[in-house]
Amino acid sequence: MTVGIDKISFFVPPYYIDMTDLAHARGVDPNKFHIGIGQDKMAVNAKTQDIVTFAANAANTILTAEDLEKIDMVIVGTESSVDESKATSVVLHRLLGVQPFARSFEIKEACYGGTAGLQFAINHVTLHPESRVLVVATDIARYGLNSGGEPTQGAGAVAMLITKEPRILTIDDDSTMLTQDIYDFWRPVGHEYPMVDGPLSNETYIDSFQKVWHESNRRHERTLADYKALAFHIPYTKMGKKALLSILEDETPEEQERILARYEESILYSKQIGNLYTGSLYVGLISLLEHAEDLHEGDRIGLFSYGSGAVAEFFSGNIVNGYQEHLHQEHHQQLLAQRQQLTIEQYEQLFADNLDTSVDATFEDDLPFSITAIKNTVRSYRV
Ligand code: HMG
Repeated sequence: MTVGIDKISFFVPPYYIDMTDLAHARGVDPNKFHIGIGQDKMAVNAKTQDIVTFAANAANTILTAEDLEKIDMVIVGTESSVDESKATSVVLHRLLGVQPFARSFEIKEACYGGTAGLQFAINHVTLHPESRVLVVATDIARYGLNSGGEPTQGAGAVAMLITKEPRILTIDDDSTMLTQDIYDFWRPVGHEYPMVDGPLSNETYIDSFQKVWHESNRRHERTLADYKALAFHIPYTKMGKKALLSILEDETPEEQERILARYEESILYSKQIGNLYTGSLYVGLISLLEHAEDLHEGDRIGLFSYGSGAVAEFFSGNIVNGYQEHLHQEHHQQLLAQRQQLTIEQYEQLFADNLDTSVDATFEDDLPFSITAIKNTVRSYRV
């Protein structure tokens, strides 16, 4: 029996800023953001749109009435939780209308949380083949106005349905995991923004990738030639490329060209969104699946997941025949094309206008699953 990703879709908030505008406002050469960081646009959300809003919209795109009856586990991976106790997945479970006899919980380890959720789901379906598990990776990546990390912000969610005999990507039992206690990026309790050592985070990302890549190849007797493509956690699109280039030195020019061409296909959406934290690897996977033209049944895709702090995992999956019919390419392209561009002034206003959950209030926002009210600290959502 195979187990893996049967359905997958992302959601991003309806606003963005252009990185040229941000560069001008910050007195930086725009090429630093477009070429040096590799980002063209950055997703921005209003205070009435949170990680629950993104998660519910992403999941709503892929789930049918039959899925809602068969899902028996809802997992959310996030590092932008709205509650220290109650899991986002419990709210999501109600908003989506999943049948009641389900397990719902949230997982945290920086950007790695989505992958932890995916692997948990795969183990569950392997033991209970009739189960369907909803895994959602949802986050708001914020470092603060004028901060070093500002050009690497973003927001959104990826929803995946994990089942037996999946119709998009089977996931192999070949994970190589790595844990290292490193303070490259962390957010102490009570801090609105993360603390980040940018250069250390870049170094740890590359070093972690090299370690799990080489160990995985040693364990499974594979080389680059066994992979049709590699998809990376994408905090900004230049990051994955730097890690990828670090293992290509001994490869032939043809092999380098082949794998770099797939990498370019995997970053097309992220260039327009920015960092989704837990969802970034999976936006990369969606971009690859929706843009690469010569993927065939059985082709092996390697996936590198990285969460600061730091946990990394390299694992792989195989393309399922007919996977194209189960993607949502048109929906994703419309979602990105229909966003409203903000001026930097509007972005800064939205950024400063935080949701105050200590004051009861009502809000106007037409977006499905947006926040309509705060009462006694509890958020109500449009359903
Ligand atoms: P910075 O100091 O603003 O930028 O920090 P820089 O000076 O390092 O320049 C960036 C690149 O732009 C360099 O390229 C420059 O040469 C180039 P590189 O040498 O690295 O290849 N550049 C130019 N290129 C063309 N034309 C120009 C020009 N000027 C400069 N005119 C940094 C950048 C990413 C560190 C910062 O934005 C940051 O701290 N971001 C947040 C941390 C981050 O994203 N780290 C990534 C790895 S950690 C991770 O992935 C986990 C994470 O997702 C969190 C989690 O797990 O939860 C972040």
